[in-house]
Amino acid sequence: MELINNLIVSIVQILPKSTIHIFAKKYIAGEELEDAIKVVKELNKKGILATIDVLGESVKNKSESQEAKNECLKVLDAIEMNKLNANLSIKPTQLGLSIDKDFCFQQVSELLERAKKYNNFVRIDMEDSTVTDATIELYNRLREKYDNVGIVVQAYLKRTINDVEKLNPSKANYRLCKGIYIESEKIAYKDKQKIRDNYLLLLNKMLDDGNYVGIATHDDYLIEQAYKMIKEKNIPKDKFEFQMLYGVKENLRDKINSDGYKIRIYVPFGKHWYAYSVRRLKENPHLAWEITKSIFSLN
Ligand code: FDA
Repeated sequence: MELINNLIVSIVQILPKSTIHIFAKKYIAGEELEDAIKVVKELNKKGILATIDVLGESVKNKSESQEAKNECLKVLDAIEMNKLNANLSIKPTQLGLSIDKDFCFQQVSELLERAKKYNNFVRIDMEDSTVTDATIELYNRLREKYDNVGIVVQAYLKRTINDVEKLNPSKANYRLCKGIYIESEKIAYKDKQKIRDNYLLLLNKMLDDGNYVGIATHDDYLIEQAYKMIKEKNIPKDKFEFQMLYGVKENLRDKINSDGYKIRIYVPFGKHWYAYSVRRLKENPHLAWEITKSIFSLN
C-alpha cells in the first residue's frame, strides 16, 4: 500500500497546476484576504478560533520578503478591523530567514509590534530541518523582547526533546505537530507509532513544565491520549488548545469544540497555494488517488 501511495504522490507532483487546484481548494480559503476573512467569520460564529497564514515560502530576495511582510501586516489589520478571533502564522523563510537572519528578525519584529498594538499573537511555523536551528534562534531572539510570539516543534525529529528541554525554562508557547517535510531517518522517526509516542512524550514534558501548548493533530489516537493527559494532570483550559488544518476532518473539529475545548483552525490563503496544496495532498493519498483516477479516467 505504501508503494502505491508513494507512486500516487509522485504522479500528483507532475500533474498540471490547474488540476491540483480543483482538489486543493478544499485546503485553502481562497486567493484573497477577503476569502480568509469570510472563512474565519464562519468559524468564529461556531466558537472556533483561527490562525491565518499568507501562503508562500522561501522567497528569493528581500523585496519579495518585504511584500510578504506587508501582506502579513494587512492580515493583522484585518483581524482587528473585523474583530476576528484569530491570530497570524508565518513561515520564517517567507520573511527572509534564508537570505539574512538579521533582516528576518527585523521583519518579524515589525509584525510582532503590530500584533502587540492589537493585543494579538504571531506563531512561527517550523519548516524543514535545514532551518530548524535558525528558526529556534530567531524565536529565542524575539522572545527576549516579545511575549506575543510562539513556535512550532515537530514530533518526528529526534532532536525535538532536547530543543523542548532548552525552550521550556523561558515558558514557551508551542504548537506541537508531527512534522510534514521529508527528512532522513538519521534525524527523524519514520515509524507511525514512534512518532506518536514521541508526540505524547513531548506533550507531557511541555504541560508538566507549565508551557502553553497548541495540540495540532487530526490523529484520533493522539487526541484521545491528549484528553486523558489533560484530565489526569488537571491542566487548566488557559494552558492548551487543539489545532487543526482547514478542510481536514471537520467532524472531529466540531466534536472537540462541543466537548468544550478551545480549537483553532489554520486557515491559509493567497496566490502561492501550490507548494502547500501538494504537501496536503501527499498526506491524503486517498484524495491523491481520486485525482489520479480522474486524470487517467480510470473510473
Ligand atoms: P496523520 O497524518 O496520521 O493524520 C491523522 C488522520 O487525519 C489521517 O488518518 C487522515 O484521516 C486525516 N488527515 C490528515 N491530514 C489530512 C489531509 N491533508 N487531508 C485529509 N485527511 C487528512 N507541520 C510542520 O512541519 N510545520 C508546521 O508548522 C505545521 N503546522 C501545522 C499547523 C496545524 C494547525 C496542523 C494541524 C498541522 C501542522 N503541520 C505542520 C502539519 C503536521 O506536521 C502534520 O503533517 C499533519 O497535521 C498531519 O499529521 P496528523 O497529526 O494529523 O496525523
